Amino acid sequence: MMLLQFSLLFLLLQYCFGKSEPFLVSLNSDETMESFYAYDIKFPPTERVRDLITNTYSFGDFNAFSGNFPPEIVKRLESCELVAEISRDVKFKGTVLKTQANAPRHLARVSRRAPFDFGQQYSYFYNSTAQGQDVNVYVIDSGVATKHPQFGGRAKFGKDFTGEGSGDSTGHGSHVAGVIGSKKYGIAKKCNIISIKVLNSANAGELSVVLAALEYAAKHRKRTGKPGVANLSIGEEFSGVINRAIRMANNTGLVVVAAAGNDGTDACTKSPASSRHAITVGAISDVDDRVASFSNWGKCVDLFAIGTNVVSVNSNDFNSPQTLEGTSFSAPVVSGLVANLLSEGVPPEKVKQVLLARSTKGRIPSDSLAGKSGTRNRIAHNGVSGKEAESQQGTQGSLRDPFSLFGLFYKT
Ligand SMILES: *[C@@H]1O[C@H](CO)[C@@H](O)[C@H](O)[C@H]1NC(C)=O
Ligand SMILES: *[C@@H]1O[C@H](CO)[C@@H](O)[C@H](O)[C@H]1NC(C)=O
Ligand SMILES: *[C@@H]1O[C@H](CO)[C@@H](O)[C@H](O)[C@H]1NC(C)=O
Repeated sequence: MMLLQFSLLFLLLQYCFGKSEPFLVSLNSDETMESFYAYDIKFPPTERVRDLITNTYSFGDFNAFSGNFPPEIVKRLESCELVAEISRDVKFKGTVLKTQANAPRHLARVSRRAPFDFGQQYSYFYNSTAQGQDVNVYVIDSGVATKHPQFGGRAKFGKDFTGEGSGDSTGHGSHVAGVIGSKKYGIAKKCNIISIKVLNSANAGELSVVLAALEYAAKHRKRTGKPGVANLSIGEEFSGVINRAIRMANNTGLVVVAAAGNDGTDACTKSPASSRHAITVGAISDVDDRVASFSNWGKCVDLFAIGTNVVSVNSNDFNSPQTLEGTSFSAPVVSGLVANLLSEGVPPEKVKQVLLARSTKGRIPSDSLAGKSGTRNRIAHNGVSGKEAESQQGTQGSLRDPFSLFGLFYKT
């Protein structure tokens, strides 16, 4: 009976009033919920707030409540003398989007559609709930300095195919891993990094080793039951064997990201860049979005990311970063984005499609594409709009103390 009355009341409220929305209402410091209820009961039942309140909060002389209220009631609360402040309750969203100010350029570029203005610093806006957590990223490279504090213990030694043991022989793999998942330079700040070492200190590897590495990554991923992405650090002439291996890895559900290569030529003449089953990444300049002079291009390149002045982890000096360039360092930007998509729940076979859909179209200066027939004009983007993040920050700012207090004390 009571329930029926409630639902009738609810229906009535919905019928009479506009759309309800979540609000957070704090009371003046000399008021309590009791004094508020005493005030509220004076209104006719359909205009009362009490039954719409979903949570109350009180500590010290701070008293507040939240709930879904129609505009008419919000209006009434706005003129209520007991109320200190009313905020739209954007708690969830507000904490989801994070901002890394003065971010490394390869990060900032993936959350900005417009080109960089010369000499400016930019922020990296990202979704803090989808940061590659529980995703395995296989760095098939020269090894990774897994103890580097920037990895926060998330980087692990997987397998060594060079006979030189764990550790990074050249620093290449650590830099790559840093772009994928380090705290400061990384796109996917919570992913698991697994080092598969195929390049020795002479920066040399063998084809057969790459096959073994892909096999290891595919099996490891299946065993751990986690989504996974592999970034290959080999740029070879076209190889049917490598491309077949990529297709196999792809069949097992492993997403493979490949650098387009640094020969300034058509990527379709290279492996694994030419594989349809990999996501192939070219390099653009961090200054003006032009295709980098060294980057391979053509219809086998799926999209571009910054590949010049890429600042990341230095395996030789844990206290200072190093700056490198090459498609080797634009590919891991995309590996990081893939890890984030996987942790967002995008199925592996849909990742490429979503990545391309979110990419920024038409921003690469067309004269830098001249003579690079078939090259798609796409820059990697994480789908988080800087404007959105900034406006949420603005909202957050205007919500002031009660809001941040809620975040602190009433995390749900
Ligand atoms: C990605 O692959 C390219 C070559 O295919 C390589 O140069 C680069 O180091 C790799 N990056 C990662 C994430 O392993
Ligand atoms: C953030 O990621 C979560 C999944 O983890 C998703 O549900 C949500 O829509 C994303 N939010 C934004 C603003 O991208
Ligand atoms: C495998 O390759 C196909 C063809 O390019 C692609 O559509 C699919 O997304 C890929 N799957 C994975 C797991 O990357």
